[in-house]
Parts: sequence; structure tokens; C-alpha cells
Amino acid sequence: NVRSSYTDSVNFYGNNTPMELVKTYGSPLYVYNENVLRTRCREIQALSDNPAFTPNYSAKANTNIHLLKIVQEEGMVVDAMSPGEIVMNLAAGFKPEQILFISNNVSAEELQFAIDRGVYVSVDSLSQLDLYGQLNPGGKVVIRFNPGIGAGHHAKVVTGGKLTKFGVNPEDAETVRATLARHNLTLCGVNMHIGSLFMEPDGYLEAMGVLLSIVKEWVAEGHAIEIIDFGGGFGIPYRKYEGEERLDLAKLGEAFHATITEFIEETGYTGRFMCEPGRYIAAECGVLLGTCYSVKNNGDKRFAGTDLGFNQLMRPAMYDSFHDVEIYREGGSEVTETMEQSIVGNICESGDIMAKDRQLPEIAEGDVIAMLDAGAYGYVMASPYNQRPRPAEVLIQENGEARLIRRRETLNDLLNMYPEADALLNEFG
Ligand code: LLP
Repeated sequence: NVRSSYTDSVNFYGNNTPMELVKTYGSPLYVYNENVLRTRCREIQALSDNPAFTPNYSAKANTNIHLLKIVQEEGMVVDAMSPGEIVMNLAAGFKPEQILFISNNVSAEELQFAIDRGVYVSVDSLSQLDLYGQLNPGGKVVIRFNPGIGAGHHAKVVTGGKLTKFGVNPEDAETVRATLARHNLTLCGVNMHIGSLFMEPDGYLEAMGVLLSIVKEWVAEGHAIEIIDFGGGFGIPYRKYEGEERLDLAKLGEAFHATITEFIEETGYTGRFMCEPGRYIAAECGVLLGTCYSVKNNGDKRFAGTDLGFNQLMRPAMYDSFHDVEIYREGGSEVTETMEQSIVGNICESGDIMAKDRQLPEIAEGDVIAMLDAGAYGYVMASPYNQRPRPAEVLIQENGEARLIRRRETLNDLLNMYPEADALLNEFG
């Protein structure tokens, strides 16, 4: 291989080579490694050994049922952003009481869907609290508060603070009380989420303090709080080949553990504490494999043309996100000499760039390319834009064997949703 030391170091592909996987399952292809996924779950669980700590996986990062099953086996609970995510979680074997539906601007039908399934429901505004009360009078509800602190790798993923649409303002406590009373609701939990991808824990810890000071009052007023959920946002090092440092989970865990333990001692709280990472759990267990079909020079710019477009991995186009790249070649050996190149896809837009102006070994036609750390916000954000079906997903199991965990979408799948699907499939399928 031309560049593979990172995946080699974790034996990412098990008993297979990436070339074999692409030959067997096609290109492009999402590949996940079970060992890495389990390791990340265990690292999050190790943040605190206080029995009140029940970490939650934020399923939006990757909802493949087979990955959810592994997360469930690891003893985590899960959240959901939509009825679709509730269904995926249930299908993976999570019990309703292990699922927290974190709603945001949802319809009455969606709220009703969650109520009927018996999952915990968090509401995000005073009006949605009122709507929930009308639908489920006498029920239990979780409220998402906005702690006034935000964090994140890009303005588009900062979800706390005054400039964002999220959460109930803690200053509206009076209206919250009145609305709870009007519908005879029990406030059974509070949650927050300040944003996605921090590498320094300070903002998170500060926001934890804010949420705890809010909840302290509710506990003191006698509300039977069962859930205090501090949200996700735990970052991962995307710049693998530059030796980017990992988030210091030991440091975060120490403060996390001390904070929750102290809160219990101080208040006699008997409920549970959650954090809610998505990316941290799922990103590094996944790569997106593709194939280089064409190389060209436009002036002094070199382009490696591949089947990896923003239809399969949206993050570089959407947030200018950096994903590291590996290059595999039959019989190839590690190359250290590099040149500036961009890896581009096959979508008819100039923003279809996976890796821009990178110093990489010279990519050749036929090479298999991996976009690393694509397990979170990869497949779930993929689309059949340009009518290119979405890729298949393969799991490298603990025994090193590969297993197909979702087949490739087909052109027939794309025809199948029209009212005249039968005729269309007959003629063009
Ligand atoms: N909890 C709530 C309420 C959230 O909205 C999110 C993410 C999470 C937890 C999990 O955050 P994480 O631990 O994964 O950072 N598509 C973007 C990320 C969007 C995150 C949205 N909310 C990306 O690819 O970077």
C-alpha cells in the first residue's frame, strides 16, 4: 500500500485487504470496524464509575441497526431526533425506557408517535412543552435548556448560546412551572447540548455547572428528576497523519466524575446522569472506500478523480471538514514522497471536493482511496444526488471477517417510489 499506516496500526480491515472488500462489495463502500466501535464505547463508559452514570450514544451520527446493536451490547442507552431514529433504535433492541427522543420543532403527530412508543421525550421550547402537555396530560417530560454556552468545530454545529435556535431559556422557569402545572406534567429530566466537536473540555464542564445549578432548583422544589443529560460534542482527532492529540478523556472524566458525585452528595439526587456523544463513538470506527478512475492536471493543479463525492460524504463540502486520506495499491509499498493534489468526486458541482490541495503520495488510476473517520455523519448524511445510489456498508467483525450490514442502494430502489413503479421497473429496471 502507498499510505496505510493508520489503519494498519489498528488492523482496521481484519482478514481482508481494502482491495478485496471493494472487489467483493463494490465501490464506494462504507467499512466499519467492530473492535474500534467497542473500544470507543468503553472509553466513554470509563468517564465515571459512579453507578448513576448511564452514557448515551447519540444515534444521529450513525443509525445502522447492526452498529446500534453493538452499542446496545456495550450497555449504553441511546437518543433519537426523529420517529425514524426511534424506530431504528427499537429495531436494534433498545427498550423504550432506554431511548430519549430529543425533539426540536416537531409536529403533534411526531410527539404522539414518541408518546405511543413509551420513550422519554425532551421538548425544546415553551410552546412544544404546552403541545406535549395537551397530548400527554399527567405524563412525564424532559426539558432541554439552553445553558447560554456554545462550542463546536463550525458555526453550523454550535447548538448552545443565544444565537442558536435550541433549548428553553432558563429565565423562563416561571412559565415552565405554570405549563407543567396546567397539564399536570412531571418534569423528569433536563438536557442540553452545547455543540459538536470540542477538543478542550472547559466549555463542556462549565455548561455542566450551569445545567446543574438549574436542576438544583427543580430538585429542591420536589420534582422527581430521573435524568440529567449534559449532551455530546466530544471531539476526535481527524488529522491522524499530523499526529493530532486525542481529547483528554482522563482529564474530562476526572472532572465529570467529581462533579456528579458532589451533586449527589449535596442534593441526595437519586436519578441518573448522561452524556451524549455521537461522533466520539462512531467516527473512527468507519472509513469510506472509493476508487480513483481518472487523474488530470488543470494548469498546475492535480486532481485525482474518484467515485467519492459529497453525495456519499457531505462533511468536506458542507463544513470544509478535514478527513485524512489513505491510498491502497495492489503490491504497492509505503511512499513518502508527496505532491499537492485534490481528491474530487463524480458529482457535477465544483464543490465536490473530498480533500483539497493535500500533500499526498501520487495517486494513480486504479488506486483504492479511504476517507478516514467517516463513521459519524457519513452514511446518515449521504443522498442519492445525481441519482447515484447510496453505498453498501460492511462490518469487520471481532474475528476479522467482513459481513455486509446494509446492501448497496440500486437504481431499482430509486424507481420504486413512483406511483407507477411497477411499470417503470418493468421497462427500465
Ligand atoms: N445531542 C444532541 C442534542 C445533538 O444535537 C447532537 C449533535 C449530539 C448530541 C451529538 O453530538 P456529537 O457528540 O456527535 O458531536 N453533522 C455535523 C455534526 C452535527 C451534530 C448535530 N448534533 C458534522 O458532521 O460535523
